[in-house]
Amino acid sequence: MFLFGDKSESMSFIPLFFLAFLLQFCSSLSLFHHHPLDPLTPTELNQIKLIVDKSSTGSLPNLTYHFVDLEEPEKIDVLSWLSSKKTNKNAQFRRAKVVVRAGGETRELVVDLASGSIESNRVYTGHGYPPFTFNEFVKASRLPFQYPKFMKSIVNRGLNMSEVSCVPLTVGWYGEKVTKRTLRITCYYRGGSVNVYARPIEGISLFIDVDSMRITNYIDRFRVPVPKAEGTDFRSNKKIDPVTCNNATEKGFEIEGNNVKWGNWKFHVGFNARAGTVISTASIFDARMKKYRQVLYRGHVSETFVPYMDPESEWYFRTFMDIGEFGFGRSASTLQPLIDCPANAEYMDGYVAGADGQAMKMEKVICIFQRDAGDIAWRHAEINNPGTVIRSGQPEKTLVVRMIATVGNYDYVLDWEFKQFGTIKIGVDLTGILLLKGSPYTNKKQITADVYGTLVADNTVAVNHDHYLTYYLDIDVDGNSNSFVRAKPKTTRVTDVNASPRKSYWRVVTETAKTEADARLRLGLEPAELLIANPNKKTKVGNQVAYRLIPGQPITSLLADDDYPEIRTAYTKYQVWVTAYNKSERWAGGFYADRSRGDDGLAVWSQRNRKIENKDIVLWYTLGVHHIPHQEDFPVMPTVHSEFQLRPADFFESNPLLL
Ligand code: MN
Ligand code: CU
Repeated sequence: MFLFGDKSESMSFIPLFFLAFLLQFCSSLSLFHHHPLDPLTPTELNQIKLIVDKSSTGSLPNLTYHFVDLEEPEKIDVLSWLSSKKTNKNAQFRRAKVVVRAGGETRELVVDLASGSIESNRVYTGHGYPPFTFNEFVKASRLPFQYPKFMKSIVNRGLNMSEVSCVPLTVGWYGEKVTKRTLRITCYYRGGSVNVYARPIEGISLFIDVDSMRITNYIDRFRVPVPKAEGTDFRSNKKIDPVTCNNATEKGFEIEGNNVKWGNWKFHVGFNARAGTVISTASIFDARMKKYRQVLYRGHVSETFVPYMDPESEWYFRTFMDIGEFGFGRSASTLQPLIDCPANAEYMDGYVAGADGQAMKMEKVICIFQRDAGDIAWRHAEINNPGTVIRSGQPEKTLVVRMIATVGNYDYVLDWEFKQFGTIKIGVDLTGILLLKGSPYTNKKQITADVYGTLVADNTVAVNHDHYLTYYLDIDVDGNSNSFVRAKPKTTRVTDVNASPRKSYWRVVTETAKTEADARLRLGLEPAELLIANPNKKTKVGNQVAYRLIPGQPITSLLADDDYPEIRTAYTKYQVWVTAYNKSERWAGGFYADRSRGDDGLAVWSQRNRKIENKDIVLWYTLGVHHIPHQEDFPVMPTVHSEFQLRPADFFESNPLLL
């Protein structure tokens, strides 16, 4: 879901001047870079544009940039750079993966920044298309305003064209043999409300061929009343009291470039157009061993899937894959101090390439802050010491890295929260405006056929849907040879009646996944601890060092396996997957998600059934909700929270908070 309003204010162009001068420095990039995984700088983005524009690809007609991101150095080189006093030359190479459209074709390029050359340049011929550009959405959204048939439909409804807002939607894939890059436009009536999504104009569909930017089909099928403006305003006039958000008054962390140090943690915070926040090379200081130990090589949201449950012709295609079709980073909202982040937060800007390849600044897209929410890290009161009661404990302090992606109507608050004890809590708050459907009904009593959602106000149905956010988690526990272990509490009968009056107990049965097929899990009924263990490292008493996945609510897709949206997002059939590490396998729904057919992505990679025992492995976890809307979700939805955690499990010798 997409809308544009605040992008023009939060993005600004970086001028190309100074580039000739700056280019001379690019061969000595190590001067500028603190970490091999640093995001592309505005200077580098503009340099990439110059290199591509000067090449044969640059002269192709209608060249547009759809994806520009760091082509990361090999993991082995990055780790060697981190551990060996930053001397690894291979880690310092700055390359970019660039995906452009030109002459109706998709091209993938690898650009080497040091030499200013294009290392590879090939036409992509598979299914699916790269993310839409921001410009394409803006242009498409304007097309109805010059289209006489549409203007007539608006006038016939007694509405005023100057109060209409149109929103382009991606269309998915429904078995078509031949696809084109297509958007479908749906329009809303502002007429006295700032809540654009609250007043849908139902019955009208406009189909846009994006490459030619033309309306190819227009349908005005029926009319229902436009919901009223009254009661739709979401602006708050409440005074904000920042003290209640956070008791922490100090910043509490150090940041140098993209490197963050807090408590015993150190990690790297990146940002790109597709995933938004990327956490890399997170390690935790072990005070007993007097060294940093690896926990997470890289983690980020990999794909989202938001299918609506209305099969009618104006709604069935709403099965959005927001990350692959547009991008969470590109949807990052400028954060509002004291609302989105507390007073002690520090902010980071992000940079992405615009449709013309030029660097665009996105202001204050990430905030980092120490949180003191009044929780307890641990405590105990001991009453059995003679003559005294001993009480002790520690208040909990955490560090939060936050980004908010506003993808059209919805806002996703994406948190990475680091705890002193070693836990990483990954949470999402869903908020924003529901996708609403105009309806003839003003009371549930009038409804005879299925409306596919909840009547939340007069003439307003909030349509049922799901939100799935699938995370890529390259956990490397104390090195990158890891195994996926399930520790299952199994009910056991007591057989020796003389030894115990008990009839049963549970004991722990551990199973180590051998191949990818052993590691596809639906969570819920069967209890099991899920561990990423390092079989080569043991504690003093002999336990395998590990991190434990603490899942949130069980969720898997309820769609039929042969339903087209499900074929494209087959990875939502399991909540947990573990795959063998492969640098190129990062996007759970496949790289070319727009109009994809399910022939790339996590479910396909896992079918190779590679060995995953004592290997470099990647954990994939899906969090989400089946969203049955309720009236309180209107006109703006109070946050709904979903989360999971990664927690040390025999990683430290004892509670590290006492050291
Ligand atoms: Mn790994
Ligand atoms: Cu929802």
